[in-house]
Amino acid sequence: MENKAEKVKPYSAEKDKKQQVEKMFDNIAGKYDFLNHLLSMGIDKSWRMNLIDLLSGIHPASILDVATGTGDLAIQTSKAIPDAKITGLDISRGMLEVGERKIAKQNLSGKIKMIYGDSEEMPFPDNTFDAVSVAFGVRNFGNLLKGLKEMNRVLKQGGKVFILEFSKPKSPLFRFVFNSYFKYVLPVIGKITSKDPKAYKYLFESVQAFPSYEDFLGIMKEAGFKSNNYKIQTLGICSIYIGEK
Ligand SMILES: C[S@@+](CC[C@H](N)C(=O)[O-])C[C@H]1O[C@@H](n2cnc3c(N)ncnc32)[C@H](O)[C@@H]1O
Repeated sequence: MENKAEKVKPYSAEKDKKQQVEKMFDNIAGKYDFLNHLLSMGIDKSWRMNLIDLLSGIHPASILDVATGTGDLAIQTSKAIPDAKITGLDISRGMLEVGERKIAKQNLSGKIKMIYGDSEEMPFPDNTFDAVSVAFGVRNFGNLLKGLKEMNRVLKQGGKVFILEFSKPKSPLFRFVFNSYFKYVLPVIGKITSKDPKAYKYLFESVQAFPSYEDFLGIMKEAGFKSNNYKIQTLGICSIYIGEK
């Protein structure tokens, strides 16, 4: 069954979400890092670092970073766990190209491999990775359950998934402030600085439509994960969901 988030699409309600998401990220790839750090006032780095702290705890030798984009999480992970072999997967060639340049510049090409591919049909055998990470990716999936099932399939038995995603702050006052920023300020900055103003309207709408904590944990369970839990970040702007195969 399609959930609310899957109906929220960047450009048109009729066409396939995945193709539209791919096009949108290709359009904004050149500005993505700059805008990401600007709009989050740099806090996004600490959210990724909190995910990496949890990931490091299981000492993974092989990590798949799904929806890796321009590779920020993969790069930060490689610096924190230098022995890990990391694979980044994404459907936007534009985002991957930016990521590959960053990886080469930091001499990490031997440790991080970037691959073009769809999270809902991954080009890896079953039971391949010790850990799977995703930062700000699952909200964009065409079919969330299918994507989560694929992550479960490619994880080794006992492996863990770590998912960082925007959530809705629990405090009504802070939720109001956060929503106002997301709805009114962010699209204006996006419009001025990016070639694709619709991308920032989509950002607000896709966060609003994303499943609640309870619903998302339920979808993780349906995808085959157990011991599912979450850790709230910065008053609930984001959360890190953790599950085990
Ligand atoms: C908001 S960006 C996040 C990038 C990166 N993980 C980060 O933390 O900055 C979302 C990424 O998800 C990718 N994506 C969306 N749907 C995907 C899918 N079905 N398969 C693979 N990647 C996907 C997009 O192309 C985009 O690069």
